[in-house]
Amino acid sequence: MMRSLTARQAYRLWAPNYDVENPVTALDQIAVDQLTPPLTDRTLLDAGCGTCRRLPSPSDTGLRLAVGVDLVRGMLLANRDSAAPRPTVLTGDVRDLPLASDVFDLVWCRLSIGHVKEIALVYREFARVTRRGAVIVVTDFHPEAAREGYVRRFRDAAGNSHVVEHYPHQVDDHEQAANAVGLRLEARLECSVGPDVRSYYVNAGMTQQYEEQQGLPLVLALRFML
Ligand SMILES: C[S@@+](CC[C@H](N)C(=O)[O-])C[C@H]1O[C@@H](n2cnc3c(N)ncnc32)[C@H](O)[C@@H]1O
Repeated sequence: MMRSLTARQAYRLWAPNYDVENPVTALDQIAVDQLTPPLTDRTLLDAGCGTCRRLPSPSDTGLRLAVGVDLVRGMLLANRDSAAPRPTVLTGDVRDLPLASDVFDLVWCRLSIGHVKEIALVYREFARVTRRGAVIVVTDFHPEAAREGYVRRFRDAAGNSHVVEHYPHQVDDHEQAANAVGLRLEARLECSVGPDVRSYYVNAGMTQQYEEQQGLPLVLALRFML
């Protein structure tokens, strides 16, 4: 059995080639598009933003503010186009955000919370940095995929395969942690292997795996309101 890397170890290695899309990231994108309200005039925090590839620029979207926070500096700096406007980013931990209270009315936490064991600390921080009426969208590697033995795996730039430490959290765990700080679960999506992501399997020569995995929930997406 391969030893898992901590998130910090893993994303330092993964940063240079992280931005390649895969079935999990493609399903995350579909879910977040469905759960996110219009961006205009909002203040957005992308918590665990990685390379900031999802972080919209205020000038393109009408956002008043967009801030990304990630644990791994190498992710924040990866693939930075020097000609593009610099996003506002901070190195930090979602359990203890380096941000003032009552600033944001929209939070994304995309495929990051599963790297954290103590999700109560994360929801406490989301409640602290948001304003009343805020929307918080959280996605995670689906606990059912974890139960079936699937792991979060990547190949580094040298082609070596690694597994990243991941803590499966059930919907009830999220809901309990969120309710404890006044957040209410409003919507939930389960995104499974199917036609939306078939091309990733076909292009990788993994048609048989596609057939085997069809219907397997890969991404859990939740929307909370404060
Ligand atoms: C799968 S990547 C997702 C990145 C980005 N949200 C996206 O969708 O492209 C997970 C990210 O979570 C970050 N992360 C893991 N644990 C974290 C923590 N405790 N605080 C902040 N970021 C964390 C990792 O460094 C990594 O960049």
